Amino acid sequence: MAKVNRNKTLKVASFFCGCGGMDLGIQGGFKFLEKKYNDLPYEIVYAIDNDPYATAIYNSNFKHSCKTEDVRDINIKNIPKHDVLLGGFPCQSFSISAQNPPRLGYKDEKGKLFFEMVNALKEHKPRFFIAENVKGLLSANKGKAFPMIVDEFEKSGYYIKYKLFDASEYGVPQKRQRVFIIGFKRYEDYMTFEFPKPTTLKDSKINLNSVLDHSANKNEKWFFSQKAVDGMLRVKEKMNKGRVQDLNQPCNTISSHLSKVSLNSTDPVLQVNGKYRRFTPREAACIQSFPKNYKLDSVSENRQYRAIGNAVPPVMMWYIAHSLKDLVNLELDITKVKVALKNINYQSKATEYYKKNKQLEIA
Ligand SMILES: C[S@@+](CC[C@H](N)C(=O)[O-])C[C@H]1O[C@@H](n2cnc3c(N)ncnc32)[C@H](O)[C@@H]1O
Repeated sequence: MAKVNRNKTLKVASFFCGCGGMDLGIQGGFKFLEKKYNDLPYEIVYAIDNDPYATAIYNSNFKHSCKTEDVRDINIKNIPKHDVLLGGFPCQSFSISAQNPPRLGYKDEKGKLFFEMVNALKEHKPRFFIAENVKGLLSANKGKAFPMIVDEFEKSGYYIKYKLFDASEYGVPQKRQRVFIIGFKRYEDYMTFEFPKPTTLKDSKINLNSVLDHSANKNEKWFFSQKAVDGMLRVKEKMNKGRVQDLNQPCNTISSHLSKVSLNSTDPVLQVNGKYRRFTPREAACIQSFPKNYKLDSVSENRQYRAIGNAVPPVMMWYIAHSLKDLVNLELDITKVKVALKNINYQSKATEYYKKNKQLEIA
């Protein structure tokens, strides 16, 4: 008898896939800090990003490959049929930390890219979509951008739920607050879905120390020069620069600026025996909860920092995707029960027939 493949139920199209944080999370089947994040029933059938360095990393880690193209240049009709649309749409224009250039919100060209998701939803009508963005989205444009975005998603035919997540509450060694917007085509899905509850709270949060590579302390390459340290110390109090991390806590948010991390920026740094050092790209990837075997070296270290800093932590995404698949499993289980009930009827009819005719003539 042909087996029903429950493992690959939902087809996924991924916009703005970057180096694959969201995609790895939804696909599952990876290990992070000795914990296994099981395979989830999603299959990525289409992925696109216009940054060739991010897509080089993506393509060295997945069996399928992603396209390197501007999403505004594609013919949306040509995207394969899918059940879920993903999109961590570009966030620079919504971010509170991106003060220079100033926050332009949805009036900026990049801030308009979420409309590409809206157009794809109107065309393909997948059962779900998952969008992700920075916390600043909630207050951008004096609080006007977020309701406008939700409104556009609703007008494309979806019921919307959203929640602000902190990655450190979901098994990630980083305080990273991000808004997730989930759209449901069906009202019953919308009514049934619940966002996952935090799995790591207070004392159980994963600390930075557990993902550091202490051997990097022996390599001068990762340390800032004395000149940079002196300059930072002069303005430290006033400017809140040189943010040394507490190793017993999750790390502060890392960003795509890590590529240019300097002691004059607000990015997190480490202090080792009185000296200051930056994270290695591998440490940055671990802080984002990428597994140790995630391949990064198809591009330069600067490009790795950038792609990793932009990513959605796979472990946080895994929990969200896991909650969503429960809706579908629930439905599959109902189908299974219906089939079982049908079989019972069939069996009892067969028994009746056998009793009457003393033989079973059912193929
Ligand atoms: C926040 S990052 C997405 C991160 C990704 N979801 C992950 O989890 O790794 C936004 C991405 O949008 C991409 N992007 C920006 N403008 C784009 C465009 N016009 N077309 C396609 N991708 C674009 C950027 O290259 C960047 O990788």
